Amino acid sequence: MAAKLAITRLSKQFGELEALRGIDLAVERGEFISVVGPSGCGKTTFLRIVAGLEQATSGDVLLDGQAVRGPSGDRGFVFQSDNLLPWRSVLANAMIGPEIAGRAGPDERRHAMGLLKLVGLEGFEHYYPRQLSGGMRQRVNLARALAIDPEILLMDEPFSALDAQTREIMQTELLRIWEEGRKTVLFVTHQIDEAVFLSDRVLVFARRPGRLQAEVKIPLPRPRCLPLKRTGEFVGLVDQIWRMIEDDVRAAALYENA
Ligand SMILES: Nc1ncnc2c1ncn2[C@@H]1O[C@H](COP(=O)(O)OP(=O)(O)O)[C@@H](O)[C@H]1O
Ligand SMILES: [Mg+2]
Repeated sequence: MAAKLAITRLSKQFGELEALRGIDLAVERGEFISVVGPSGCGKTTFLRIVAGLEQATSGDVLLDGQAVRGPSGDRGFVFQSDNLLPWRSVLANAMIGPEIAGRAGPDERRHAMGLLKLVGLEGFEHYYPRQLSGGMRQRVNLARALAIDPEILLMDEPFSALDAQTREIMQTELLRIWEEGRKTVLFVTHQIDEAVFLSDRVLVFARRPGRLQAEVKIPLPRPRCLPLKRTGEFVGLVDQIWRMIEDDVRAAALYENA
């Protein structure tokens, strides 16, 4: 079977800075893939290129065999900071994608209501972003990304602004939602345990230049719930990945943006 997402020899240069070098990756339909690595290793750049928000310097990104040339409704993006429109209700925010696509009729509205229920926001449709907690705002962002029924979901540290407990709840919620629709997911995080908990495979990026250093398969059974994080197998996988990037993370912390 052809890969859902096929990336070959992807490189990105920002002037003198080599942000990404020679990334090769094939993602199967329905796979949950995470990208971890130290600050500045090119995670966001990589995701933005797949999203079509940034152009690669060289290499190819094929989604269902088609070259990615710009943003499009086949890719849903969830950013770290919530970018909800404050003057729009929860429902109106979730409807932005269909509206832009010129499809905001009763069917889409019903679909958006269903998605808000799916992300646990039933009854909050007419609230405004300022009336919601951080976790609830990220749920709206997720519903909004799903509302365009994307082929692939791209998530850039979506839970990093949340407190630890909310974050764990969002991780299990995301898995529940993913089990229902089995979207292909590319998930960027700097938390290794989050990557291991969610993913089928974890891609470990290294910095200077940003590159794919290793790939770790996560053979933990699904469905997964939080007690899994205390098992020896889970802790062992986290530890294995941590050892791969430890030196890089220390260097990045010392010379942030140097
Ligand atoms: N638009 C840009 N112009 C110049 N340099 C950039 C730009 N975007 C990112 N960079 C640089 O590229 C490198 C990778 O950045 P980024 O993809 O944000 O890393 P990460 O998300 O892993 O922290 C960093 O050194 C960053 O400063
Ligand atoms: Mg980033």
